[in-house]
Amino acid sequence: MKKIIILFFAVVSLCGCCRRSEAERFADDLMSRMTLREKLGQMSQFVTTTGDVTGPEGEPMDINSLIRAGEVGSILNVKTPEEIEALQRLAVDSSRLGIPILFGHDIIHGCKVLFPINLASSCSWNVEAVKESARLAAAEAAAMGVAWTFSPMCDVSADPRWGRVSEGSGEDPYLGAKLSAAMVEGYQGKDLADSSTILACVKHFAAYGAPEAGRDYNTVDMSERMFRDRYLPPYVAALKAGAATAMTSFNDYEAIPASGNRWLLKELLRDELGFEGFVVSDYRAITEMIAHGVAADDKEAAALALKAWLDMEMVSGSYLNHAEALIEEGVISEKDIDRMCRNILVAKYNLGLFEDPFRYGGAERFAKAIYKKETRDFARKVAQESMVLLKNEGSVLPLDSGEKIALIGPFVSSSRSMLGSWTAFRDYDSTAVIKEGFDSRFPGRVTVAEGCTPFEDINGGIAQAVRAARNADVAVLTLGYPGELSGEATSMASVELPECQKKLLAAVKATGKPVVVLLTTGRPMALESVIDDMDALLVVWHPGTEGGHAIADVVSGDVSPSGHLTMCFPRCDGQIPIRYNHKNTGRPLKRAHPNPEKPWAKYYKSCYLNTPNTPLYPFGYGLSYTSFEFDSLTVVNPQVAMGEDVVIKARVRNVGDRDGATVAQLYIRDLVASTTRPVRELKGFERIELKSGESAELEFVLTAEDMAFCREDMKFAQEPGDFKVWVGQDSDATLEAQFTVLP
Ligand code: NOJ
Repeated sequence: MKKIIILFFAVVSLCGCCRRSEAERFADDLMSRMTLREKLGQMSQFVTTTGDVTGPEGEPMDINSLIRAGEVGSILNVKTPEEIEALQRLAVDSSRLGIPILFGHDIIHGCKVLFPINLASSCSWNVEAVKESARLAAAEAAAMGVAWTFSPMCDVSADPRWGRVSEGSGEDPYLGAKLSAAMVEGYQGKDLADSSTILACVKHFAAYGAPEAGRDYNTVDMSERMFRDRYLPPYVAALKAGAATAMTSFNDYEAIPASGNRWLLKELLRDELGFEGFVVSDYRAITEMIAHGVAADDKEAAALALKAWLDMEMVSGSYLNHAEALIEEGVISEKDIDRMCRNILVAKYNLGLFEDPFRYGGAERFAKAIYKKETRDFARKVAQESMVLLKNEGSVLPLDSGEKIALIGPFVSSSRSMLGSWTAFRDYDSTAVIKEGFDSRFPGRVTVAEGCTPFEDINGGIAQAVRAARNADVAVLTLGYPGELSGEATSMASVELPECQKKLLAAVKATGKPVVVLLTTGRPMALESVIDDMDALLVVWHPGTEGGHAIADVVSGDVSPSGHLTMCFPRCDGQIPIRYNHKNTGRPLKRAHPNPEKPWAKYYKSCYLNTPNTPLYPFGYGLSYTSFEFDSLTVVNPQVAMGEDVVIKARVRNVGDRDGATVAQLYIRDLVASTTRPVRELKGFERIELKSGESAELEFVLTAEDMAFCREDMKFAQEPGDFKVWVGQDSDATLEAQFTVLP
C-alpha cells in the first residue's frame, strides 16, 4: 500500500494551477483504501502524555497503540524534534497505510527566538515586519517537525480584562485584517511544499474576543450586524490570504457553541466565504458542548460538530468513539466523513508529507535552524518598533550620557516578563532581561533594587529602592504585570497597577528624582491614578528574546520610539470595554446645549458623572523623541460615484531635531447611513521614517470596499452620502476634510 502512495506521486503532474484537484484525486484514491476508523483517525488530533499542556487534562491515553492502528491524524504540543521524528516513524512504518502525522503547535509569536507578543508587534503598524516575523518563526518551527501553527489569532477585542488581547492585533478590524493576512503570508509563504513553510490557522472562529465582562470562555452575544462590521474582517482577510486551516472558538455565538454552529462553520465559512481548507476544534471544545448545555453526552456533542462540518477534533476523541454509531443510526453519512477526511489529507498532501513524511524536522536540522543571528536581530528590531512612548515630561527620555541609573522594580531580571505567554520552546538562558540590556548599554552606571515582587511588598524593599534612587540621577522603574498574566485563561477584573507597585512608585517619586516607568504588560492598563508619579512612561510589553537589549536601545536614544497603540489605555477599570470606534448614540457627550451654564446641562448625555468618556491614551497614540506635523490635507476627488476610489493626500514633516518614525493614520466617518456608524474608523495607515527636517507626501486610496459596511438590508456594501476624513498620528487627529459619494 505504501508503494502505491509513492507510485501515485511519480505519475501525477505537479502543475500549480491544478494542485488542488490533484491533491483531491490523491486523497480520494487513498480514501478508497481506508477503513471508516482510519478516516475517523485522520479527523482526530491527540496530545501525548509528555507534550505541553494547553488545556484541561484528561485520562492518559496510549498514543502509540492509536498510531499503530492508524487512528491519529494529528498530534499537538510535542516538545522535541526527536520525539516528533520517532512518532512519525511509528506512523509511517507501523500503521497499515503509513499515513504521515501532521504535527501542530502554538507558534504564536516565535518558536525558539521569541518576537514581542502579538499585541506589541501590532503597535509597530509594520505589516512587512509582522509578515517577516511569521516567516522566521515558521522556519524554526518547521525545522523541528511542526508543520502547522495555530496562528494567527484574528479576534478583535476592546477589553483589556481579557488576557488573550496579548495574542491579537488590538481593537481595530481594519488593522487586524492587514496584520492577520500578513501573518498567514509569512507562515505559508508561496508554496506549502517548501519545507520551511507551515500551515496557518485562522482562529478562533468566531467572535471569541468579545466575552461578557472580559472573562475568558464566557458567553458572546452580539448582533450579526455588529459581528460582520467589527469582528469578522480579520478572519476574512486571513482566509483570503490563503490560510489552510481554521479553528473554532470556545464561546457560543447566537446561543450555539461555535463547534456545533452550522451557520458559522458551514453557511458562513464554507458557503459564503468559500473556505476550502480544514477546520479543527479548539481544545476539547466539542465535548465541552455538554457543559454548554446543548449536548447530553459525548456522542451528541460529536453529532453536533460533525453536522456543523467541523473536520478535526482536538484532543477529546468523540469522533473516534462515536462517529461509527452515528453513521449506523443515519445521523450522519459516510459521505460527510469522506468530505472532512479529504480536507485533511489534502492539507497533508500540499505540505508534501506523503512525498517525504520527514521533510519537516530532524534534530540536526533543528539545531542549525534555531537562534540564527538574522532571526535574533529581527526580533530586536520588531521589539524596538513595538514599544510605545506615552509620556515624556521634560524630555526625561532618552537618558543623558553619563547619568547614574537606579534600575528598580520586580521585572528588572525577569526573563518570563520579557517573553509573555505561548512560549513553549523558550530558553530563559537565551533571553536578554532588562538588567542585561542596561548593563551592556550603560556599563558601570546601573544600580539595581527589586523594591517589591509583582504583587507583594518585600521587607525593606522600598527603603532599598529609595536609597538607590537618591544615589542616582534618574530612577528607571520596571512595573506592570508578569508574563504569565497574559494569554489564555488570564482574565483580570481590574487592570490597575498592583498596590505594592503603586507604593513603590510613590516612594521613588518622593525622592524628587526623575522617574521613568518601563511598563511590561500583555494588555492595556488603567493608569490614571498613578500617571502623575511618572515623568516618562514607555510601554515595553513582553518584548521577546531580545527584549532587554531593545529596551536599552530605546531608553538610550540609539533608536527613537515609534510604536502607536492598537488598543486604548483606559483611565480606570469602569470604562472597559473602551474603543475609539464607538457609535455616537442619540445623546452624545458633545451635543450642543441651549443653556450650557445651567446645572442640569450635564445630564441626559451618554457619559459618566465621575470620569471622562475619553481614555487616558487613545488608539493610535504614541510619542517619539522627535515630533511630526501633518498639513496640506486634500481630497483629490471630493465627489465620487459609487464604486470609485477616493484619493486623499497629506504631508507629514519631522519638525524635531532627531530622526524618527511615525504612523500616519487615516480615519473616516460616514455621516448619515442606513445603520448607525462609528464616530471614526481607521481606513488607511503608513509607517514612515523621516530624518530631522525631512517631509513626505502621503497618499491614501480609499476603495469602495473600505467604505462598505453591513447595511440595513444586511448587505456588506457601500452607500452614497457625505464623509468626513481625518489624517494624523492618532485617533484624535484634527486635520479634517470632506468628500461625497454620489448616488
Ligand atoms: C486552546 C487555545 O484556545 C488555542 O488558541 C490553542 O491553539 C489550543 N488550545 C492548542 O494549544
